[in-house]
Amino acid sequence: MSADGVDLKKRRTLTAATSVVGAVGAGFVVYPFLAAWAPSEKAKAAGAPVEADISKLEPGQMLRVKWRGKPVWIVYRTEQNLNDLSSLDGELLDPASEDAGQQPDYCQNPTRSIKEKYLVAVGICTHLGCSPTYRPDLGAADLGGDAWKGGFFCPCHGSKFDLAGRVYSGVPAPKNLEIPPYHYLTDTTILVGVDKGAA
Ligand code: FES
Repeated sequence: MSADGVDLKKRRTLTAATSVVGAVGAGFVVYPFLAAWAPSEKAKAAGAPVEADISKLEPGQMLRVKWRGKPVWIVYRTEQNLNDLSSLDGELLDPASEDAGQQPDYCQNPTRSIKEKYLVAVGICTHLGCSPTYRPDLGAADLGGDAWKGGFFCPCHGSKFDLAGRVYSGVPAPKNLEIPPYHYLTDTTILVGVDKGAA
């Protein structure tokens, strides 16, 4: 007991308890401040690159993945598909992919791809945003018969794209399909959403 009648033991205990509460309180104050600056897990996931395993994809098949809420298609083009691409130039609006906004520089080539076998494209029509249907069936009667070399058909207003995502002339869509940034992590894994070296 001290001279002022205060129980010293009790005072020490109270002081220690107050310090702990103070420290915990400070922790609660600091944490929300940091959290407000860091992107949430959900936001990170929404914008994050997406890995696509193409090891089981066979010639003529298409794999779909979702990136930033958008469908991204990966199509394994056959030899015939690749040969046919060069025969279509006269029917297309932008055969040489001159609109630089529709693909990264490294895909501004005749197949609009890094490896010619695989097309990687955002599956959203450049007219009003419907998702076109994959129509690899050569010579489809409803799409022009023998002239149809496979591609994508938008059921909303009839736009057509070839197997490089290039839009045909005379349809409502004004641009080729978008090619997203991507690169190969291995021979059978593609990382969609980021250029090589930018990860
Ligand atoms: S949205 Fe595809 S043709 Fe209109």
